[in-house]
Amino acid sequence: MESIITIILAAGKGTRMKSDLVKVLHPLLGVPMLSYPVALSLNDIKAEKTILVVGHQADKIKEKFKGPRIHFVIQEEQLGTGHAVLQALPFLQSFNGTVLILCGDVPLVKMETLRSFIDTFWRNESVLSVLTAVVENPFGYGRIVRNQAGWLERIVEEKDATEEEKLIPEINTGIYCLKASYLREGLREIGQENAQGEYYLTDLVEIGRKRGVRCSAHMVNDPAEVMGINTRIDLATAEEVLRQEKLKELMLSGVTVVDPKNTYIENGVEVGKDTVIYPCCVLQGKTKIGKHCIIEHNSRISDSTVGDEVTIHSNSIITESKVEDQASIGPFAHLRPLSEVRTKVTIGNFVEVEESIIGKGSKVSHLAYIGNSLLGETVTMGAGAITSNDNGFERNKTIIGDRVFVGSNVELVAPVKVGSNASIGAGTTVTKNVPEGALAVSRVKQRNIKGWSKKLGLRHKKNKKRKD
Ligand code: UD1
Ligand code: CA
Repeated sequence: MESIITIILAAGKGTRMKSDLVKVLHPLLGVPMLSYPVALSLNDIKAEKTILVVGHQADKIKEKFKGPRIHFVIQEEQLGTGHAVLQALPFLQSFNGTVLILCGDVPLVKMETLRSFIDTFWRNESVLSVLTAVVENPFGYGRIVRNQAGWLERIVEEKDATEEEKLIPEINTGIYCLKASYLREGLREIGQENAQGEYYLTDLVEIGRKRGVRCSAHMVNDPAEVMGINTRIDLATAEEVLRQEKLKELMLSGVTVVDPKNTYIENGVEVGKDTVIYPCCVLQGKTKIGKHCIIEHNSRISDSTVGDEVTIHSNSIITESKVEDQASIGPFAHLRPLSEVRTKVTIGNFVEVEESIIGKGSKVSHLAYIGNSLLGETVTMGAGAITSNDNGFERNKTIIGDRVFVGSNVELVAPVKVGSNASIGAGTTVTKNVPEGALAVSRVKQRNIKGWSKKLGLRHKKNKKRKD
């Protein structure tokens, strides 16, 4: 196997996206579209070098993609695809392998397609091969002109094509294999004598023919793979393809996706078998869900780990958190970053947890806020219990021991510690530590005022007489 250097063209702005963001950074299934060709080059092709030709918003692209095997070259002015590749030449000096050219805005190409393209190129002994597709509407693309033997004769751009050539349905996808030595020599001969005044990379075909070397064309089976993204409509089309691929992969591995039309799962997400995902769920980033879980409607989980046999009830949001086996979350629960919910915990409706650990078997069943807290095992937090972690200047911790019972509407003003087996009476405001096994109560003593309802009755009558 010859070594490969990949050049990815990504200098264009993408005018038709009508966006302040450069086209190749627009996300597809949660990652910039440029990630797809870059991943092919790094992980599948295992290219010796991956060179990104960047121009518009070069700094933003560099920031996102910098890495050990990635090199950037700047194309200050976008003078055409030939000019773009020319900028990468310094990285090809004394390289004698294969150069693979990919486009930053063609994200759906499959690894198998590229592999067979490269293998054919190696076998047929041409100096250049272009990946082509036969499409229903070839308008706008470069057309593939083959000679009688089927070798590639010319690639002619829409704007330079004769009426007859415009009828050719086989188009240039913008993906090429080249012998590095030929690329180096041929690029120097490219001119700008064409309808657009650009340096066309495609001119390398005619240059080769004049030199008597062979160029070839390799057709893809599925033209959908080589669609280029030009507009936001294309973006949505590609997103749908990638999304369905991911869902199919999960379903084939044993995950039930109840409504694939309305489920959004990003590429990096892992889901264990026999987990059931109900409609309108969103699973994002580096999320890992275990086996036998149920994720009900409308829940969103980002960059989080969920164990086995966990139930996430409807409308819950989990971000950068960890949920252990057999826990139950929601409905309408919010686990904010750095929350850890241990085995068999219940986090019920309208509960928000933030930067806290909820110990094994504990229950926070309704309407509570737990922030910067450490709850031991089998703690019960009543409805409306709140940890006041923020005094306006800094955040403080609440530490609650094992088997503590916290009544309804308790406020724990941090920093504060509650010892194991302690109880806190409903409505108490805890400002001092509570010793182990103690009962803490802070309440205003109850007064009963006799005859109150009678007075109230009079007032009601008065109110009724008012005209407003
Ligand atoms: C090019 C091909 C055409 C092919 C089409 C496939 C040429 C002359 N034409 O068309 O045959 O059918 O791609 O999409 O090569 N780019 C740069 N710098 C530049 C110009 C382009 O980096 O100066 C990048 C773009 O960002 C894009 C890719 O190259 O990723 C293709 O450019 P684009 O303008 O879309 O293609 P065309 O030149 O129209
Ligand atoms: Ca162009």
